[in-house]
Amino acid sequence: MSDESRPSPTRQAPDTRANTPTAVVIPAAGRGVRLGPGAPKALRALGGTPMLIHAVRAMAASRGVSLVVVVAPPDGADEVKSLLDAHALPERTDFLVVPGGSTRQESVRLGLDALPPEYGIVLVHDAARPLVPVDTVDAVIDAVREGAPAVVPAVPLADTVKQVEPAGTPGEPEPVVATPERARLRAVQTPQGFDRATLVRAHGTVTDDVTDDASMVEQLGLEVVVVPGHEEAFKVTRPLDLVLAEAVLARRRLNDGF
Ligand code: CTP
Ligand code: MG
Repeated sequence: MSDESRPSPTRQAPDTRANTPTAVVIPAAGRGVRLGPGAPKALRALGGTPMLIHAVRAMAASRGVSLVVVVAPPDGADEVKSLLDAHALPERTDFLVVPGGSTRQESVRLGLDALPPEYGIVLVHDAARPLVPVDTVDAVIDAVREGAPAVVPAVPLADTVKQVEPAGTPGEPEPVVATPERARLRAVQTPQGFDRATLVRAHGTVTDDVTDDASMVEQLGLEVVVVPGHEEAFKVTRPLDLVLAEAVLARRRLNDGF
């Protein structure tokens, strides 16, 4: 079938999607180099519980999610399976564990390969965003169910952003090339939500290095929409992010106590 005659995946009738089963792929196979030496990032503790378990619970908290596929560090699939067995998770959600690859993109693709056929909607969520609120997850699922082939949660930027000509040597001054209008920029988070066939096609077609899944769908020329993200969906990347994550957890415990 030529591209012209392919049925447009730009919009699907909302009522055909309302009951489509939804799965989440959680890439968790990274080392966490920027966090410093230690266990793989997803297995490090936050409030005494591995970051990955927080992320899995955050996804399973959504009533729309019926399967979570965890993409484990290549040598850590058994450890991840034991972790999932050892922690209380909702009964309505199934879990699968597959070993990951050497890039995030490869890890996501390995997760997609493991999906049973009935899941027509797929979310991709970084294990490194353990504290995303369930409302954000639901907002992404709702937008895909309403017909968008690709949905990303995002927040406005606090800092002005400069585009530069990167210096050859770290620390050297870098010439500024442009200053994009801040009001039109968004910082993108996960979970990102997709029509499954669209995401599979993107992963089968786009070979460039990308840092998120939606940009692969953009490269196919398809519509990607943004829904409101949340400040607590930040990515744990550097040591200071762990301090922030512990503080968010402490605030939640305090609020739950009253
Ligand atoms: N990830 C993955 N497989 C890889 C690399 C990354 O599944 N080969 C996952 C990470 O586990 C993380 C998510 O992709 O949940 C986002 O990546 P990032 O925050 O960059 O995590 P790391 O790659 O682990 O961190 P760093 O880049 O600092 O090493
Ligand atoms: Mg990385």
